[in-house]
Formats: sequence, C-alpha cells, structure tokens
Amino acid sequence: MYPADRTVTIAALSDLHVREGEESAWASIVRNVPADADVLIIAGDMTENGWLGEAEASAAMLAEVSAPMVAVLGNHDLRGLRRKAFREVFERVGVQILVDDPIVVPTRSGVDLGIAGVAGSGGGFTMLAEDGPIPARALRSMALRMRREALKLDEALAELKTPIRIAVSHFAPTETTLGAEPSSKWWMLGNRDLGRVADRHGVDLFLHGHAHLGSPVGETEGGIPVRNVALPVNGDVVVITLPVPEMAMPR
Ligand SMILES: [Fe+2]
Ligand SMILES: [Fe+2]
Repeated sequence: MYPADRTVTIAALSDLHVREGEESAWASIVRNVPADADVLIIAGDMTENGWLGEAEASAAMLAEVSAPMVAVLGNHDLRGLRRKAFREVFERVGVQILVDDPIVVPTRSGVDLGIAGVAGSGGGFTMLAEDGPIPARALRSMALRMRREALKLDEALAELKTPIRIAVSHFAPTETTLGAEPSSKWWMLGNRDLGRVADRHGVDLFLHGHAHLGSPVGETEGGIPVRNVALPVNGDVVVITLPVPEMAMPR
C-alpha cells in the first residue's frame, strides 16, 4: 500500500449505451465514481446510436460526477452524423473528448496524469480468420482504419511527457480481455497494433471497452496492464490506484 498522496486514483467505465426516453440501467452506477477520484475515464459507447438526444441524456447522467472527465468515442457514438454537436453536448458538462491531442489532468498528488486515446478499430488478433472468412471489403476499410487509429495513438503518446501515462481506446488492444467473446468475433473487437503502440511508449495502463462479454483484466504482448472497463463486464465503475513514481514526487 502507498500513502494517499503518493497515489493517483482513476475511475473508469464504458458502454453506457444510453437511449433517449429510456431509463438507463447504469444511471445509479455512475454515482459510484469515488468523490476523491482524480479522473473519470470513459472508454466510449456513451450512447446507442450517436444521436444528440441520447448524448443529452448520457451527459445529464455524467454531469453528476465531480471528478474531471475524459472520454473517447465508441463505434455506437460514431453512428451519428452530427459529430461536432455530439461532442459539444458532452463538453458542456465537463467531459473532454480525446480527438487527436492528449489531455493532461493535474492530480491531488501534485503530479500530472497524461491520457492519450482514440476510438481504435477492429482488425483482429492472431486467430483472425480461424472461424471463417471476413468480407474482403470490410477487411480493406478496417485495415486502413486500423493503421490510422494506431498512428493517431502513437502521435498522441509521443506528445505526453507526464510521469504517469494512460492509453485509452474503445476497441481492445489485446485478446486477453476478450473473455467469453467468441473467437469468430475477435476481428470486430480490437487489434494488436493498439497494444503494440502502447508497448513502444511504455505506458502505465491501457483502458478499453466494447467487448461486453469480455473479461476485466489482461495485458498487452509487452506486459502493460489492460483493463476492460465495459459496464456489462464489471457491473460497476472500475477504480484503479496507481503509485506515483518516486522520481516524480513534487518536493
Ligand atoms: Fe458497447
Ligand atoms: Fe462498441
């Protein structure tokens, strides 16, 4: 155990899938974000269809959180066409959306926390085509998206000079958190390039969502801790405590 001022507390969740005019199953869970959390990281799918009315309902739930909030968009959020207006709904209640640049959050320990994130994409892991072929057209567009998103994450991480760095994507960076997801769906759930980017930069933690049937804890090929923070997986807000590196402690 570390003294409280030598740690950073990260709360995380994803996959709220809020629909307009429907009481969300997660409305009361959002209140479980600890009052002393340094940040709430949301790994996407705040809404079901990316509609503005859904964004308003989802943002109203998140507005109750007092911690600073940082989010990436999920594939469901990206279904809507009015993407700028969609982001602005969340920004109005204090959710900063990671688009290109990373975000730096000051913490109670006095040390800055750096967060870089992208939506990410499918693309798969080594067992890719084991359970049948993927349509060629889907594969081509996914390969392009995969490359673009991994590059964006790479560039955002290269900008971060904070003593603690977290990578976030909606899609999974490893198959180790895919749990009970059938291997025939793995190609839609994430890709290994995201994890390799994080490995190259030596981040402290990787958070993702999207794999609703996945498992909560895994790691990248390079051994970076990965948490699948999807609400259907954990049933609650995930709270992670990271030690502040001794060298980084303010004097
Ligand atoms: Fe989802
Ligand atoms: Fe998703």
